[in-house]
Amino acid sequence: MKYLLSGLLIARLFACQSQQKTNTYNEQHRPQFHFSPQKGWMNDPNGLVYLDSEYHLFYQHYPDSTVWGPMHWGHAVSTDLTHWQHLPIALYPDSLGYIFSGSVVLDENNTSGFGTATQKPLVAIFTYHNIEWEKAGRKDRESQGIAYSLDKGRTWTKYAQNPVLKNQGDVDFRDPKVFWHAATKRWIMPLATGNHLDIYTSPNLKSWEKASAFGENDGAHGGVWECPDLFPLQTKDGTEKWVLIQNIGRGAVNGGSGTQYFVGSFDGKTFKNANPPAQTLWLDHGADNYAGVTWFNAPNNRRIFIGWMSNWDDYATKVPTQNWRSATTVPRELLLKATREGLRLFQKPVVELEKLRENKITLAAQNFGNLVPVKGSSVQKEVIMVVDLSKSSAKEMGFNISNSKKEFVRVGYDVAKKEFYVDRRKSGKTGFSRRFAQKHTAPYVAGKILTIRALIDNSSVEVFVDNGRIAFTDLFFPNEDFTRLDLFSAAGQTQLVRAEVYDLKSIWR
Ligand code: FRU
Repeated sequence: MKYLLSGLLIARLFACQSQQKTNTYNEQHRPQFHFSPQKGWMNDPNGLVYLDSEYHLFYQHYPDSTVWGPMHWGHAVSTDLTHWQHLPIALYPDSLGYIFSGSVVLDENNTSGFGTATQKPLVAIFTYHNIEWEKAGRKDRESQGIAYSLDKGRTWTKYAQNPVLKNQGDVDFRDPKVFWHAATKRWIMPLATGNHLDIYTSPNLKSWEKASAFGENDGAHGGVWECPDLFPLQTKDGTEKWVLIQNIGRGAVNGGSGTQYFVGSFDGKTFKNANPPAQTLWLDHGADNYAGVTWFNAPNNRRIFIGWMSNWDDYATKVPTQNWRSATTVPRELLLKATREGLRLFQKPVVELEKLRENKITLAAQNFGNLVPVKGSSVQKEVIMVVDLSKSSAKEMGFNISNSKKEFVRVGYDVAKKEFYVDRRKSGKTGFSRRFAQKHTAPYVAGKILTIRALIDNSSVEVFVDNGRIAFTDLFFPNEDFTRLDLFSAAGQTQLVRAEVYDLKSIWR
């Protein structure tokens, strides 16, 4: 009897293990072409750096639970920004605190002395969050630490004299996003400090000096400023501007956390906003693109952004997933373009993702009212829809994804209101937060031709309107997969110029 029981137990254990193996990335709602951790919790992307053909993605990670806790840096690499290989955890919490968000730089000239002339170090600059000090009510709970790697990010050594930047009493003092400023030959550290940004500089990544502050009276202030990023971008005609990305914990355009940006100049010390201080520019009009920053050292001068696909303030810890929680957005190339309103950031999913396309369906030009069903049942799709508004009478047009339970997400343009939207009010499981079942809108004056491009994964949609002039990132959790796709035209006819629909292959199989 004893033997039989233990035999059964062993058989169970085996079954369970192999099930776990096959179930990873097969769970309900699990994104199929987005990065998500194997298990446990993730939030911000961290330490984005390119080195020797590898894009590194570190991320805020708590492997032991699906809710936020002691923060580690998880780690993955990719050679194509599409397929990700998981690597062991890079940084563990220690006696100085949890490892909060930060960046990694390639120290080309070995200014830090951590490497040699031939062995260039990667240096991570991150925030230490001392949870004991927080509990004790100490304001100086956050400080900046560094660590280095001499083996392409595989193993890390923390600097013995951490922290390198101590806190003078700012409760929020975090998320260093360091870069090299060639003109002044110094490292620059934009650091989020409560309601504004502080900029520090350093010759060696170890000693830091405050250079300036920005933003107390600029942009949105509904919540604490977090995760900044500062970088130059050139327009097509060669004009160079500096873009400051500034994430904000609450009070974003469509609720909760979100990402604003500023366009201006930077002289090695001070950032100057070229637009009126009261103007807020939003990088995304959905609810689920937070803490996004860009890759250091990406080849071909590309400025590649990736965000955390959730909403800290509204429901991040409550979304209905089981063994893991949260994913990143797709990597997006940022471009600066002139518009009628001024210089604006445009976003384009990185071209590498197009390799995932299969089963192309092309819909020819047609004038339609009501619905045009699109064949196929994959829940990972790319939709490109080009509409001639000058030949359309419809009040609204766009597409729906839906299931047999009458749950749906609708993506569309409201012609009369001049408003683009993603409506997830009836998208299925929404009860985990009263802030989830919403319609997200953005004022938008379309031209004659409207182009909608959307990437749809199991539980997310990312929408890029007119080559990424405005973007939406939104999660959804249907009770049954959204296998149905229809183009729609409401209250009138729509002149479709062309539509292309692809299935997108999973990156995890
Ligand atoms: C943003 C953030 C950062 C912080 C990290 C902690 O989502 O709050 O400001 O460093 O998450 O996990």
